[in-house]
Amino acid sequence: MDQIIVTGNGELSGEIPIAGAKNACLTLMPATLLSDEPLTLTNAPRLSDIKTMTELLSSLGAEVTSLQDGQVLAMSSHDINNHVADYDIVRKMRASNLVLGPMLARLGHAVVSLPGGCAIGARPMDLHIHGLEAMGAEIELKDGYLHAKAPGGLKGATIEFSFASVGATENVLMAATLAKGTTVLKNAAREPEIVDLATCLRSMGAQIEGDGTSTITIQGVDRLHGATHPVVTDRIELGTYMLAPAIAGGEVECLGGKLSLVQSFVDKLEQAGVEVTETERGLKVARRNGRIKAVDVTTEPFPGFPTDLQAQMMALLCTADGTSVLEEKIFENRFMHAPELTRMGASIDVQGGTATVHGVDQLKGAPVMATDLRASVSLILAGLAAEGETMVSRVYHLDRGYEHVVRKLEGVGAKIERIKGS
Ligand code: EPU
Repeated sequence: MDQIIVTGNGELSGEIPIAGAKNACLTLMPATLLSDEPLTLTNAPRLSDIKTMTELLSSLGAEVTSLQDGQVLAMSSHDINNHVADYDIVRKMRASNLVLGPMLARLGHAVVSLPGGCAIGARPMDLHIHGLEAMGAEIELKDGYLHAKAPGGLKGATIEFSFASVGATENVLMAATLAKGTTVLKNAAREPEIVDLATCLRSMGAQIEGDGTSTITIQGVDRLHGATHPVVTDRIELGTYMLAPAIAGGEVECLGGKLSLVQSFVDKLEQAGVEVTETERGLKVARRNGRIKAVDVTTEPFPGFPTDLQAQMMALLCTADGTSVLEEKIFENRFMHAPELTRMGASIDVQGGTATVHGVDQLKGAPVMATDLRASVSLILAGLAAEGETMVSRVYHLDRGYEHVVRKLEGVGAKIERIKGS
């Protein structure tokens, strides 16, 4: 297995281009199943999760052609000849469950493997199921698979989510575009990826209002047509690279970044003493001198501080002046980076969903490994300012969500290399 070696190399400077959002692209791709006309996505990120979704859609009979080195995905679902999303693909990536709503809406039936838990939490699908059932779907769990059918077609309904789940909002929103009548989603997720999905669906002919707020109203239509849609900027990749100069010092401009995508995160960075400026090309981040100040962080659904930046923020706070308290409110087991950061000399106490980080003067390089995407990148960030060499194993987690991580960080002066495993 490949490894990444990072050596603390002083301040960073230059530009990092930010890719299209993994989590937007993973919900935009299943939207192809809603129409028999082509859907083309531009600004797609080059990631292994996108390959997994391509594999899944292809297994259902969709055609997915990757163009321009993977930045354009040309998809067509005129001939869906399989309605079973197999466990072998779904278990690799939970976002595979996003084919459920579109298949049910277009075909009237779908069989989708339950993904099972993952390293960061149990992540059930009850909210997706309740939403679709409220629209008239009959869903049964048999042999680990959800067997869903909508004999009379899906019907509009008012659905109030007990939690603003991103995936449940996406699945039900997609299904509602082809349902009969009006669907109202209450306590819907407000993430920029939901707005991006609704924008794409509208360009396919869907009638949707209120995305970006907690109440989304969808007026079902008979059919959707083809469209071309650019994937929104990846706010998590953006935040991750904004932390690179915050941790190592220096000044980096993240191209394509927008404050509106990461405002709550920027508020915390500024409290910690990092300068952030919006420019015409993106977001410029500078840490000039002095120690980072300790700040407390609580993860919340958008527009709150994103859980997907909690691990990376912890890497910054490890060397802050004072004690920071991080509360993880979205996933029950998302502190797996803490023991690895501790191996690098950090002082962190984890009690349930709360991590208390006592800032130390300096981290030291060490061999480390992580069990999820954001945890792995937090170790790379920590390595940028650590004394000596940090060797990060299980790099396949990174490939799921960060394209060209070595090239992007090298481009701003980091000392980082990928060693091919056998
Ligand atoms: N939940 C339920 N029941 C459900 C659905 C969710 O209890 O039916 C719970 C989950 O177990 C979790 C919480 O609700 O504790 C949040 O889950 P949500 O459904 O909002 O998340 P998701 O759709 O599974 C997406 C991203 C995650 C990101 C979360 C939260 C994609 C493909 N994944 O997951 O991204 O952390 O929203 O913002 O969009 C990542 O990129 O590293 C990642 C994990």
